[in-house]
Amino acid sequence: MLSFIIKDAEAMKKLGEILGSLLNEGNIVCLSGELGAGKTVLAGGIAKGLGVKEHVTSPTFTLIKEYKGKFPLYHVDVYRLDDPAEIFELGLDEYLYGQGVTVIEWADRIKEYLIADYMNIKIEKLGDEKRMVKISSNSSNYTHITRELERKCTFLR
Ligand SMILES: Nc1ncnc2c1ncn2[C@@H]1O[C@H](COP(=O)(O)OP(=O)(O)OP(=O)(O)O)[C@@H](O)[C@H]1O
Ligand SMILES: [Mg+2]
Repeated sequence: MLSFIIKDAEAMKKLGEILGSLLNEGNIVCLSGELGAGKTVLAGGIAKGLGVKEHVTSPTFTLIKEYKGKFPLYHVDVYRLDDPAEIFELGLDEYLYGQGVTVIEWADRIKEYLIADYMNIKIEKLGDEKRMVKISSNSSNYTHITRELERKCTFLR
């Protein structure tokens, strides 16, 4: 597992941006952490790293927002979902196994339904602005990205 201590929102965005630049078509990033932890800030950084010009906002009420970057970016937030199985009825699978990058906020709520490989990012609040970010994966397919992220983010640690 790779971990970072992130000092503020700007550093979180930077971490996301570097990760975004390393992601490939079909990659899935699962984000978890309490309300206000910084999941959307990190997702915004990932979008920037993927070349998305638009400002990324929380897709809470829409569940899925699509952005155009180097690859399509699907930003998903399942916080308000009553029944986790519903997200699959809404067609999440088509995004997950498609040509884009999928970033899922509150992913813990649907993980039991995920059969794909994904990268896990857990954000823990350590203080007002300080965060612990823990990165892992359920698959060796993400080892290369994790290593590169570690190499490129030494200045953030
Ligand atoms: N280190 C940090 N990383 C990220 N955000 C930070 C940090 N320090 C302070 N913040 C602030 O905390 C807030 C994080 O909000 P954000 O919407 O990203 O959280 P979230 O985890 O997506 O919450 P939600 O569960 O409601 O979707 C922002 O206002 C941001 O400016
Ligand atoms: Mg959010």
